[in-house]
Order: sequence, then C-alpha cells, then structure tokens
Amino acid sequence: MDNSALDALICPVCGLEFMDVLPGENTLACIDGHSFDIARQGYVNLLTGHGTKFTHDTAAMVAARDAFLEAGHYAPLADALAGTVRPVLAATGAAGGGAAPRPMVLDAGTGTGWYLHQLLDRLGGGVDAVALDISKFALRRAARRNPGAANLAWDLWQPLPVEAGRADVVLVVFAPRNAAEFARVLRPGGLLVVVTPRPGHLAEIAQHAGLLGIQPDKEASLAASLASHFVLESALPVSIPLHLSPADVANVALMGPAGHHIEVQELERAAAALPERTDVTAEFMLSAFRPR
Ligand SMILES: C[S@@+](CC[C@H](N)C(=O)[O-])C[C@H]1O[C@@H](n2cnc3c(N)ncnc32)[C@H](O)[C@@H]1O
Ligand SMILES: [Zn+2]
Repeated sequence: MDNSALDALICPVCGLEFMDVLPGENTLACIDGHSFDIARQGYVNLLTGHGTKFTHDTAAMVAARDAFLEAGHYAPLADALAGTVRPVLAATGAAGGGAAPRPMVLDAGTGTGWYLHQLLDRLGGGVDAVALDISKFALRRAARRNPGAANLAWDLWQPLPVEAGRADVVLVVFAPRNAAEFARVLRPGGLLVVVTPRPGHLAEIAQHAGLLGIQPDKEASLAASLASHFVLESALPVSIPLHLSPADVANVALMGPAGHHIEVQELERAAAALPERTDVTAEFMLSAFRPR
C-alpha cells in the first residue's frame, strides 16, 4: 500500500487522517490513535465493530470470477474504461504542481481488483488508487493484484473513509452505487464511471448461467437512481463477442448471483456436456456522470 494512496483516506471512527505505514508494520493508525489490522495479504480491515447483513460471495464464487476475468474475455471493456478515464486524470496531472496530490481513482466494489489493475496498467503509473469491498475473499486477491492501492474492507452503504473532493474518478463495475457518498468524495469536475450489463448480456447462456434477467429500462433507472447528485454525461455501449470453453461457461454461472445456490459438482457435470465452444455476446453500458 503506497503512502500516497493513504493520504486520501480518513479514519472511519473520528474522521482524522492516517499516519504513514512503515515497511513491515501490520496496523494502520489515525492521528487520534484508532488502529486497524493490515491483513497478511495487504488489505486493511476498517469494518471492525460494524455488523453487516450483507451476504458475501463465497470463496468459490470469487475464484470463478477471477478465473473468468483473468482469461481476458473482458479486455475490451477495460480498454473502454481507460479511454473514458484518461482525460479526467490528465486534467488533474496538468493542473497540479509538484506538491499537489496525485490523481486518484476510487474503485467501489473492487472485487478481485481485475478492472482496477487493467486500468492502472493502461494509465501507465502516477495514479493513486483506493479500492473498497466488503468481501475479504475478494480483497485478498485484490491486494495481491494491486499492492500499491489502499485495499480496504468497507461497506459502500456507510460513509466512505475518504476525504471530500479527493477522488478524480469513482469507478463502479457491477457494484452498489451510493450516490451521495460518491458525490462527496469526487472533486469538482470529477467523473463517476458506472458499468452495467445491457439487455442481451450473455443471453445465449442465460439459462445455464441462471443469470437474472436484465430489466430493459436499466439505463433510465440507473440515471434516475443517481439523479439527485449526478448528471449523465455519456453512455457508451460495449459489445464483446466471446467464444467460451465449457470451463468458461461454468465460471460465468458460478460468479454471478446464482453462484450462491449452485452445487459445484453438478455444475461441472453440466459443463462437461457443453460443446467445445459456445458463442455468446457480452453487452455492457459504460455510463459517465458528472457531479451536480
Ligand atoms: C459483481 S462483483 C464486481 C466486482 C468487480 N468490480 C468486478 O467487476 O470484477 C460485486 C462486488 O461488490 C461487492 N459488494 C457488494 N455489496 C457491497 C457493499 N455493500 N460494500 C462493499 N462492497 C460490496 C461484492 O463483495 C463484490 O466483490
Ligand atoms: Zn481515528
């Protein structure tokens, strides 16, 4: 975890800043003495004392998501994300002098950190990252994948442990959207980037995958749900033709919401009966919003 990423954070107990972490230290402490464990894998658990009713993705679901993403099927979506985000970060980089904070991306619901990693890789360095998720299984992988980011166990429905006006970009890839908090942490002129599935997403295997049907009015309802704090600036459809192996199809089934109810052995049997290659199309919408 880079100390420059820590600069953007505030203690969830008292709202004050954190002290730098020295190499080998296993706690993160604020200047008022509240301290939080840094896990062996490098993420920080800020959720101490916060009970949550959230149903976590299981380790098997997280592993399936990670394997599917690692296969690179969604690289074109990462390209589109980088294209949308780059000009916003460049504006901060150009405006800041030597002492100004580096541009910062907040990844809300980072999962295993795959999209964040792809994005940082495409941006080529000089960018701080804060990554939040409620799942420790996911964060273990995220912290290994993005060791420079501040990977934090946190509930997106709580006030975020991030200074007001500090983020250049908030990224939300298939994760909950807390409009008020995203607006608070974005700097004026910052960008909220939201990826959602479009109707027809993986439709060809929706039955195998037990995917939940996607509402046709998803885009309108997305804008409406954020309208109190954000104005839609652009909406970019991203279609990706995919050729999936039986293992890929099994991973898709397991990584979604249906994964909670799937018997892995049964799934493996069903996948073995699939053809060598299944052609499907991933349909995404990449929506960018400006704070009001
Ligand atoms: C479908 S996954 C997407 C993960 C990642 N953005 C990706 O696309 O690979 C949704 C993620 O949101 C996280 N999540 C769900 N509710 C959350 C909450 N209330 N606070 C923080 N994270 C949450 C889950 O743990 C999960 O990692
Ligand atoms: Zn504190």
